[in-house]
Amino acid sequence: MFWLSLLLAAGAVSAGYVPALQVPACSAGTGSVEYSKSVPEQVAFPRTQVDLCYDDSFIHITFRALEETNFYYNESQTTNEGIWQYEAMEAFIYHGTNDPQSYLEFEVNPNNVTFQAWIYNPSKVRAAGAPLDTSFLTTPIVDGLTTETTLDREAQTWVTDAKIPLGLFNVDVGKAAGTQWRMNFFRIVVSPDTFPDQLLGAWNPTNETNFHMTPFFGNVDFV
Ligand SMILES: *[C@@H]1O[C@H](CO)[C@@H](O)[C@H](O)[C@H]1NC(C)=O
Ligand SMILES: *[C@@H]1O[C@H](CO)[C@@H](O)[C@H](O)[C@H]1NC(C)=O
Ligand SMILES: *[C@@H]1O[C@H](CO)[C@@H](O)[C@H](O)[C@H]1NC(C)=O
Repeated sequence: MFWLSLLLAAGAVSAGYVPALQVPACSAGTGSVEYSKSVPEQVAFPRTQVDLCYDDSFIHITFRALEETNFYYNESQTTNEGIWQYEAMEAFIYHGTNDPQSYLEFEVNPNNVTFQAWIYNPSKVRAAGAPLDTSFLTTPIVDGLTTETTLDREAQTWVTDAKIPLGLFNVDVGKAAGTQWRMNFFRIVVSPDTFPDQLLGAWNPTNETNFHMTPFFGNVDFV
């Protein structure tokens, strides 16, 4: 009875099972996830791969959009504009182990344009009527938050290599080994024909049409 009530109490506040990923130093390899499930229905979604490793000063993330046929973006959009209205790949990142209220939202589009902001989401699930405050990082390149994007229309791939400074998360130079993180990865698919209706996909699909649900963030360990 005691254990049952503990389980029920935990179930009320968590998403239950979340996936886990072990991430090595870049000198030793990469940790990799692949997903092909939509948000929230969990039906088929274009295959997406995310590879991570770390060095002394950066998290390295390679986003691979496979089965990409649209390469759809709005070419007038620039840094920190609403690139999520078109196609984007995203990482939500928190240094710590609990379900966060505040985390980095990083996005990139097929035009190599990025969106980077600290999010304050005190309800943890972007509850109706609750604030979702957004504080942009306005000089990403100066900060060392950079990307390299390669499109291959024939192979139907879009690959972005991103570098995200560990210092953003108060991880000092050379101190990433042993740190623990919560993250989720997302991809938005839309074409000129279907705009503005989007297909959404995630490493750990949220149960609503809403990426901002931190109980669903996976556990990521830098080893
Ligand atoms: C989705 O999961 C959250 C967190 O566990 C929960 O609060 C919410 O009620 C769920 N929503 C639906 C539609 O099941
Ligand atoms: C692209 O973005 C600009 C600026 O936000 C907007 O005025 C324009 O309508 C958009 N174009 C398309 C094709 O959606
Ligand atoms: C993408 O943006 C970065 C800066 O973040 C820049 O260094 C790079 O040359 C850009 N172009 C491509 C094709 O990746």
